[in-house]
Amino acid sequence: MASLPFLCLILLVPLLAAAQRMPSFSANDTAWRPADSNRTLVSPQGDFAAGYRFAVWVVGANSTDRAVIWYAHKSADSSPIDAVVADGTSALAVDASGRLAWTAGGNNTAIWSPAMNSSTGTAVLQLNDSGSLVYGAAWSSFSEPINTLMAGQAIPGGGSANRTLQSANGRYTLVKSATLQYGNLMYANISGGGSLLNLTNDGKLLLSGGNGQLIASDQGTSKRVRRLTLDDDGNLRLYSLLPKTRRWNVVWQLVQELCTIRGTCNASRICVPVGADSVSCVCPPGYRNATADGPCAPKQNYTGRGNDDKFVRMDFISFSGGALNTLSDSGPWMKKQTPQNLAECERICRQDAGCVAFGYKFGGDRTCLQYNRLVDGYWSPATEMSTYLRVVSSDNDSNPFTGMTDMIQTVCPVRLALPVPPKQAKTTIRNVAIITALFAVELLAGVLSFWAFLRKYSQYREMARTLGLEYLPAGGPRRFSHAELKAATKDFSDVVGRGAYGTVYRGELPDRRAVAVKQLHSVGGGEAEFWAEVTIIARMHHLNLVRMWGFCADRDQRMLVYEYVPNGSLDKYLFAGGGGGAAAAGEENDNSSSSEQQQQQPLLDLHTRYRIALGVARAIAYLHEECLEWVLHCDIKPENILLEDDFCPKVSDFGLSKLTSKRDKVTMSRIRGTRGYMAPEWVIHREPITAKADVYSFGMVLLEIVSGRRNYGFRQESVGSEDWYFPKWAYEKVYVERRIDDIIDPRIAASYDDAASVATVERMVKTAMWCLQDRAEMRPSMGKVAKMLEGSVEITDPVKPTIFCVQDD
Ligand SMILES: *[C@@H]1O[C@H](CO)[C@@H](O)[C@H](O)[C@H]1NC(C)=O
Ligand SMILES: *[C@@H]1O[C@H](CO)[C@@H](O)[C@H](O)[C@H]1NC(C)=O
Ligand SMILES: *[C@@H]1O[C@H](CO)[C@@H](O)[C@H](O)[C@H]1NC(C)=O
Ligand SMILES: *[C@@H]1O[C@H](CO)[C@@H](O)[C@H](O)[C@H]1NC(C)=O
Ligand SMILES: *[C@@H]1O[C@H](CO)[C@@H](O)[C@H](O)[C@H]1NC(C)=O
Ligand SMILES: *[C@@H]1O[C@H](CO)[C@@H](O)[C@H](O)[C@H]1NC(C)=O
Ligand SMILES: *[C@@H]1O[C@H](CO)[C@@H](O)[C@H](O)[C@H]1NC(C)=O
Ligand SMILES: *[C@@H]1O[C@H](CO)[C@@H](O)[C@H](O)[C@H]1NC(C)=O
Ligand SMILES: *[C@@H]1O[C@H](CO)[C@@H](O)[C@H](O)[C@H]1NC(C)=O
Ligand SMILES: *[C@@H]1O[C@H](CO)[C@@H](O)[C@H](O)[C@H]1NC(C)=O
Ligand SMILES: *[C@@H]1O[C@H](CO)[C@@H](O)[C@H](O)[C@H]1NC(C)=O
Ligand SMILES: *[C@@H]1O[C@H](CO)[C@@H](O)[C@H](O)[C@H]1NC(C)=O
Repeated sequence: MASLPFLCLILLVPLLAAAQRMPSFSANDTAWRPADSNRTLVSPQGDFAAGYRFAVWVVGANSTDRAVIWYAHKSADSSPIDAVVADGTSALAVDASGRLAWTAGGNNTAIWSPAMNSSTGTAVLQLNDSGSLVYGAAWSSFSEPINTLMAGQAIPGGGSANRTLQSANGRYTLVKSATLQYGNLMYANISGGGSLLNLTNDGKLLLSGGNGQLIASDQGTSKRVRRLTLDDDGNLRLYSLLPKTRRWNVVWQLVQELCTIRGTCNASRICVPVGADSVSCVCPPGYRNATADGPCAPKQNYTGRGNDDKFVRMDFISFSGGALNTLSDSGPWMKKQTPQNLAECERICRQDAGCVAFGYKFGGDRTCLQYNRLVDGYWSPATEMSTYLRVVSSDNDSNPFTGMTDMIQTVCPVRLALPVPPKQAKTTIRNVAIITALFAVELLAGVLSFWAFLRKYSQYREMARTLGLEYLPAGGPRRFSHAELKAATKDFSDVVGRGAYGTVYRGELPDRRAVAVKQLHSVGGGEAEFWAEVTIIARMHHLNLVRMWGFCADRDQRMLVYEYVPNGSLDKYLFAGGGGGAAAAGEENDNSSSSEQQQQQPLLDLHTRYRIALGVARAIAYLHEECLEWVLHCDIKPENILLEDDFCPKVSDFGLSKLTSKRDKVTMSRIRGTRGYMAPEWVIHREPITAKADVYSFGMVLLEIVSGRRNYGFRQESVGSEDWYFPKWAYEKVYVERRIDDIIDPRIAASYDDAASVATVERMVKTAMWCLQDRAEMRPSMGKVAKMLEGSVEITDPVKPTIFCVQDD
């Protein structure tokens, strides 16, 4: 919050104890002046403080973690009342009649005064433990939210107000609790037409409509400070203050692709994502900029006569026809045309001297857009659009937004057989007809979306490289030197795990963050390639994914720096003392301390198991569907599911198989390590791997979570028949014998015989049965799996798994 620097600077003071901390402010106190910068009002438990420029903030670990959640503002918008703060005469006081007012100008003119009524006569100003500044019974800051909603804060006006929240810079507004707008342009909806209801004390964001659906939760039951803030970049985020470090953690955000937020970049610029949460605004070819964030303009003007202009094709670029710098400047600057083909679309643009570019969508509906101004440009594979920019024909700028690369690599260590992309619209239709005849429709959809993923993926990586974005510091993962990591890990002394990809050490950064440093063996590719891959991994940002903070690429050393997840991996909790699985795994977990391996771990209760399953499902759904680069995990197993303090699960090792060299991927140890979790089509047929392979692995993990047994360990122990197959056995228990309680972990079974628990177990097992279908196309998508677990879709009876069995080598 750049507009409030003064405010942010003063909070360290109460923490340093020299300050005057007031529990309340009343008529008995002397007037409160800006010069009394050490005077703060503090909530009983000390989570919140209030001080000059009349604002309330959360007490964070240091000044950057100190979020301002409310400030005295003008009633019409979010602008702070600050014009007279510097005025030495300004003061806040309660007068004899009990009126609280902030006066300035030496003449007692109130520049801010909360509503009062007759019963406020003896009132005091206090800050309560929810973060509300309260004056008497009549007024509280909760009734006038600006950009932040706290837990337990009701939305004034029941959410129908035109301005529910507004970013502190005044540019972005949450309208009627449902839609984000830049000026009058909407760019995001809360969720499927719902509107925001409130943020509950246990961290759930509730929606109205339906039955109070949940859109996000950090699953914390403990009392944490949480806030929902419409940030200055136009994104709506849910933050949770980590209790130990008192740092903010983003647990949910509405917009995943920041570039789709209107007004992010200036005129004619193209927004390109950089790192997990920042963007870069670059000039298109033939254009240049005067200032670092001002608009870009053509280097040379064309006349539009003769042949002095040409069109430069930029793939995956789209512009909007909306407003730009001034919110009233609303166009329209775009016309939609209905041409027969690309040539005609170009001709229409060329005929109009004002047309600066046209957009064309290949395939399907052949959309043709004609632009008279370049506004809100962004690069994203999701646009499925190419923009043809009109520049002088002599222009020879290089064009970074070009072509799809031939280099096709996947996240999975298998060879891929892909359909060759059709060249022209006509042949597309023919090919589609032929393929549809040959394969099931689902299979086709799967393959096509996989191809789309490859396009997106390789395109993004090329982009980053061509634009030189890999050298931009902002937002991306931090680069550490070998010496820094050596110091952080005390000379690589504390080994916490050895896995297929390398050895993991525990360490602590100079800012006291605990980290897990993974030293990779045999990394393929050069430094630039490593950088590009790491950037992509670092962009993956989800509550249930282990966060990567940085990397090291010194000479031939390759290391990744992750957040340290304290509780170790799920297998230790599931298979402890029985199940026969723990020793069978080829690898150990990354974050587990080897000395703790033998320790008795607490038994996870059913509710915790369910939360873990749901969290993992959401994380994988995010990898598959939501993040820009659609990524397959390929190694989902309990060892790769780490647990936080509160048993919130974090999936680790995603994207890693890309980093290691081919040779290593096919060693026996690796195959043994994932034995039991690999989908049939992968193990036996060596077929193309799609996201459905992860769904299978997840299904197996889900059964293990319920049963507390390793899938293959269970088999040896219980029957020893070669034909025994866990999914088949579970299917019979559920649908034939109807004895679901035989599946549930015997150590906890006794405590769960009520209807609600039985329903939870049933939902988990039936979802697993769908995930474990032999035929990949029969398995639901990971997003659907998460919904099945949530109980928001009905689970029909699946087909019985056939007698497939993972071969023992
Ligand atoms: C604020 O507190 C600091 C010590 O933390 C002290 O040095 C300073 O004089 C105080 N300022 C005022 C205006 O009281
Ligand atoms: C103010 O002081 C008077 C007299 O000491 C006391 O009776 C009254 O309760 C005080 N008011 C507040 C709000 O503290
Ligand atoms: C404050 O926190 C930021 C990141 O949250 C960190 O970079 C910085 O070093 C911290 N400063 C202090 C004084 O702890
Ligand atoms: C009080 O002072 C402010 C500026 O300091 C001025 O705008 C306002 O007109 C003054 N009011 C009166 C009643 O003098
Ligand atoms: C703080 O005040 C707000 C608004 O007056 C109220 O809704 C909330 O329940 C209060 N919280 C506590 C802990 O008293
Ligand atoms: C005045 O305060 C009383 C509580 O003391 C409250 O019930 C009433 O609604 C308030 N009136 C106004 C106009 O805010
Ligand atoms: C939030 O919404 C729920 C569901 O309607 C309701 O039970 C609860 O009282 C609301 N909380 C607040 C603070 O409005
Ligand atoms: C809300 O916005 C609509 C349309 O923009 C306008 O007609 C209406 O008057 C506004 N309502 C309020 C209370 O400002
Ligand atoms: C938001 O929802 C409205 C109506 O449901 C729809 O017309 C609009 O296109 C949606 N906007 C976005 C950005 O999804
Ligand atoms: C924009 O201009 C600044 C200096 O004015 C320059 O440093 C920067 O590289 C330019 N950016 C682009 C994308 O052209
Ligand atoms: C665009 O650039 C102008 C001039 O540098 C600046 O005043 C304006 O705020 C910028 N607009 C946006 C949306 O960044
Ligand atoms: C192009 O034309 C515009 C207005 O027509 C003018 O402002 C601009 O300076 C011209 N640019 C060049 C490079 O001549």
